[in-house]
Amino acid sequence: MSFRENTTRTNIILTGFMATGKTTIGKLLAGQLGYEFVDTDHLIEDHCGQTVAEIFQEKGEMAFRAMETEVARELGEKEGLVIATGGGLVLNPVNVTALKIQGRIFCLVATPGDILKRASRDTAVRPLIQGKNPEERITELMQARKEAYSHFTQVETTGKTPDEVTAMLLFRIFHET
Ligand code: S3P
Repeated sequence: MSFRENTTRTNIILTGFMATGKTTIGKLLAGQLGYEFVDTDHLIEDHCGQTVAEIFQEKGEMAFRAMETEVARELGEKEGLVIATGGGLVLNPVNVTALKIQGRIFCLVATPGDILKRASRDTAVRPLIQGKNPEERITELMQARKEAYSHFTQVETTGKTPDEVTAMLLFRIFHET
């Protein structure tokens, strides 16, 4: 049976700390499931005509968080999506409730060193981990968010290729409830 035949249209949500591979893996997963891929940061950027970094700088983090809530509410009403969230979106329980209406949430996990490597290769500027010692900042933020992320199924990405993580996710989607 192919993945397409087997699948329900339940949304799959990938969350987790910044630069854990949510977008890369989300696109691969969407291809396998025959779902549409959406990224909450990109939806907000398209809507505002500004990058996340510009929104943080000009409108402030609170305004960005309000936009995330609006996006979560809208996406929660749809189906057949793989949704990559910004790493802070699931810190607000209101967003989690909205996304869970039609979706299963998986949390991608990586070490601070890996996150730093991936974030440095990425073109997106992440305002929350700029500054003199980004690895220290990553470790601090990860610690502060540990409890919030722990509510979701954890998927380790360190030492794994995006294809391997995608295969692992597919297994869990189809073999675990
Ligand atoms: C954030 C994560 C970013 C982006 C913003 C804030 C966070 O997205 O939404 O910079 O608070 O973790 P990524 O997780 O895709 O880097």
